[in-house]
Amino acid sequence: MWGGRFSVKPAELMQAINVSIGFDKRLASQDLAGSRAHAQMLEAVGVISADDADAIGKGLDAIAAEMAGGVFPYRDEYEDIHMNVEARLRELIGPAAGRLHTARSRNDQVALDFRLWVREACDRTVAQIEDLQRALLGQAEAHADALMPGFTHLQPAQPVTFGHHLMAYVEMFGRDAARFRDARARMNECPLGAAALAGSPFPIDRARTAKALGFDRPTANSMDSVAARDFALEALAAASICATHLSRLAEEIVIWTTPQFGFIKLSDAFTTGSSIMPQKRNPDAAELTRAKVGRILGALTSLMVVMKGLPMTYSKDMQEDKVPTFEAFDALELGLTAMAGMARDLTPVRERMAEAAGSGYSTATDLADWLVRTLDLPFREAHHITGAAVKRAEGLGLDLSELPLAELQAIEPRITDDVYQVLTAAASAASRMSYGGTAPAQVRAQVLRWKELLS
Ligand code: ARG
Repeated sequence: MWGGRFSVKPAELMQAINVSIGFDKRLASQDLAGSRAHAQMLEAVGVISADDADAIGKGLDAIAAEMAGGVFPYRDEYEDIHMNVEARLRELIGPAAGRLHTARSRNDQVALDFRLWVREACDRTVAQIEDLQRALLGQAEAHADALMPGFTHLQPAQPVTFGHHLMAYVEMFGRDAARFRDARARMNECPLGAAALAGSPFPIDRARTAKALGFDRPTANSMDSVAARDFALEALAAASICATHLSRLAEEIVIWTTPQFGFIKLSDAFTTGSSIMPQKRNPDAAELTRAKVGRILGALTSLMVVMKGLPMTYSKDMQEDKVPTFEAFDALELGLTAMAGMARDLTPVRERMAEAAGSGYSTATDLADWLVRTLDLPFREAHHITGAAVKRAEGLGLDLSELPLAELQAIEPRITDDVYQVLTAAASAASRMSYGGTAPAQVRAQVLRWKELLS
């Protein structure tokens, strides 16, 4: 492609380090779309003839067909996707192919292709997140009143409902989807026409190519256009946060499926057995989803380090932007879809969770609140009395709701029979009617709100 100034072919090692077609072939459809828009614009502004534009358009169609049919010749000697397409175009249509690269450089070409790819990846990810949210919503609706222990420090804290717990993730994933939408909106400016770095002397119409490719507008600085990769960094940051959320839910599935917890069951479809221990059912899909964050956060770190300290504008370092980004979105897709599968597959063991919800003195706060409300005690004093009651119950091997009234009255004589109404897990959860609280009525209201948001 640049033979004019060179007399000797590159060393084999030079080719080995330089070649990118092995991975940037994933930009093929974006590259063709960019070339189509560019050729049509060049014709519209009179830089190339209608005949040449027509030949280029037909040649690009033929290339797309070859790619779809799996017969396009990807060749290392043409280094990357851009030159592979151009070389093939010349074989197919002859010298007119050479006019396609007028007013364009591989620098704005790759900036465009990669931006288009990341934009599509963001759109796909939003759809995958929303599918996961729908899966969680289905379970939350069915189990809006299923009691389970709510934890802090992974110690039983207060009773909640399974629906409420799942809705916490619906909120997290909702913010993840919003982050991808925000990133998409910010990246939606077209770098094509920046050419190598300084812009073009040809009378190009950048607004036209921007529009043809679905962008809101062209980028406003030609140097920034070819130098910027923060659109990918931002998408990878959103991916890393989303993967972190996935790993937390995955971890809970791992915990909940242990026989010790036994809160949920996964079907054979999402568990594996052990080759030596016949009793085992391992939650491999959850474990692997939990692990994906390593790869995804690694991709963000990798690209951050690639970009750090690079002078304006394009440097070949930036070719290293693609592999981690592709890998990260592949991993995130697997994680999101596997998690949606598990969310639909799982069956909560309601009795077991309810039983756990009522144990561990999880209604101690309810007793303290009752003392404040009924006896007008300061909360600190109520907390102290409750602590004594828990200690007594523990000594007798009883739950709080099983502690005889006489025992309670020995600690605080004004306590009446009434108190037992707040000491069950069901009463505790149902009483938390504050907006966003765990009362089943509140959970159902949130399920409804999200169903509307996702419809
Ligand atoms: N394969 C290159 C990349 O991915 C395309 C841009 C090459 N530009 C250049 N001036 N060598 O970054």
